[in-house]
Amino acid sequence: MNPRLTRRHFLQVGAATALGAGLCQGRAAAAEHTLIPAPARVHLVGANQPTTAVWAFNGRVPGPTLRLGQGTVLRAAVENRLPEATTVHWHGIRLPNAMDGVPHLTQPPIAPGGRFDYRFSVPDAGTFWYHPHVNSSEQIGRGLHGPLIVEEARPPEVDRDLVWVLDDWRLDRQAAIPPFGQRHDMTHAGRIGQVVTLNGAISDRVDLRPHERIRLRLINAANARLFALRFENHHPTVIALDGMPVAPHGVERIWLGPAQRVDLILDAVAAPGSVHRVIDDAYPEGAYWLTELHYGAEVVRPTPLTEVVPLPANPVPEPDLVGAVRGEFRLQGGARGSLRQGNLGGRSLGIRQLVGQGKAWAINGQVAWRYDDPPLMSLQVGQSAVLTLVNETSFPHPMHLHGFHFRLLSRDGEPVARQPWRDTVLVWPRERVEVAFVAERAGQWMFHCHTLAHQGGGLMGVIAVA
Ligand code: C2O
Ligand code: CU
Repeated sequence: MNPRLTRRHFLQVGAATALGAGLCQGRAAAAEHTLIPAPARVHLVGANQPTTAVWAFNGRVPGPTLRLGQGTVLRAAVENRLPEATTVHWHGIRLPNAMDGVPHLTQPPIAPGGRFDYRFSVPDAGTFWYHPHVNSSEQIGRGLHGPLIVEEARPPEVDRDLVWVLDDWRLDRQAAIPPFGQRHDMTHAGRIGQVVTLNGAISDRVDLRPHERIRLRLINAANARLFALRFENHHPTVIALDGMPVAPHGVERIWLGPAQRVDLILDAVAAPGSVHRVIDDAYPEGAYWLTELHYGAEVVRPTPLTEVVPLPANPVPEPDLVGAVRGEFRLQGGARGSLRQGNLGGRSLGIRQLVGQGKAWAINGQVAWRYDDPPLMSLQVGQSAVLTLVNETSFPHPMHLHGFHFRLLSRDGEPVARQPWRDTVLVWPRERVEVAFVAERAGQWMFHCHTLAHQGGGLMGVIAVA
């Protein structure tokens, strides 16, 4: 469905509220948090519109922004008030396996009424996020996710540090969320919604002051939607990808697959009083504007800043490409795919039987059945690995590795510019992508598609490090 049309639908019914962009909350001194996942009602589509029944951390969508300093310890007590079991996964944080939040694999699921205490230090500064890892498509899709911001000891000088959590929702005309688990979503592009929100609400405007400098942290928390943002008349500079610093560079369109993050320096270079759109045309037939940048009158400094200083590197170990163990992961299945037969829990099933079991995807013929299936690959602690991901399907897959960031080496044999560190890489249909990482910590680490209906449909596996 065209998001612009639906947006109009909601806008016609009544004026949607303007929502500022700020989620910027003060740094939590003693990083001790309580996260309570529970049913809640929120305004997604405007204050004068019906509220939406969601699942939320601490009653808010997105959940509270957790901010702490690099190298400090995060303590979070999770008290489950959902009607089903849950966990919290700290997406992109390099942490001990026992804190990784994968049910049955790294911890028992937190039963309704139960509690789990997470405690780990955060080695890398950057933009991360947290979300459940049980029934992920539904739990994340109903609104359970929040930003996790780790601050550099000396953050770059900016006038404002903003977080934009991008999300989309499938809503009916009463702004209610229809059921999850649609087979078509699972076998095709995932659950793509038709209402896009910025920090938990449709956004009509974000206010800028002429010549101010903003650090803008983009997080794609959507179930399946890709974003490709353009800032009319602006030239943002990318400074980090998936939390990890990258040599500052300009880009025309900013791509974010599900779970990916991009940190930008956005200089407010336009004229006082002017208005500029932020356009998303990831799906050309469904282009729409995400929000508008509205310039005030008061100029912050005589001219905008121009120089962008790189962020300090994070202490990620460099893989040894020569001595690396090599593996190939072929991503298979889905509609218009070539998968005929897949191994599910030790049985070889045809694609129709698989779909009957709610599955349609495989890695090297292996359809994920349980979290504790036998591993796709085993590595020794400290070993470097080069993985080739081959997308044999008709859909893009944002492939996420837990526990480690990898260097994105090449796409279809062509070296990738800057070979950035990432924890999630978008692999396009028929594409072949090479990534490399050091298996620096022992444990059972998930590797899966972050299009959550694909993950649930079997596009998932474990890399065992011992
Ligand atoms: Cu953000 Cu295994 O996920
Ligand atoms: Cu996928």
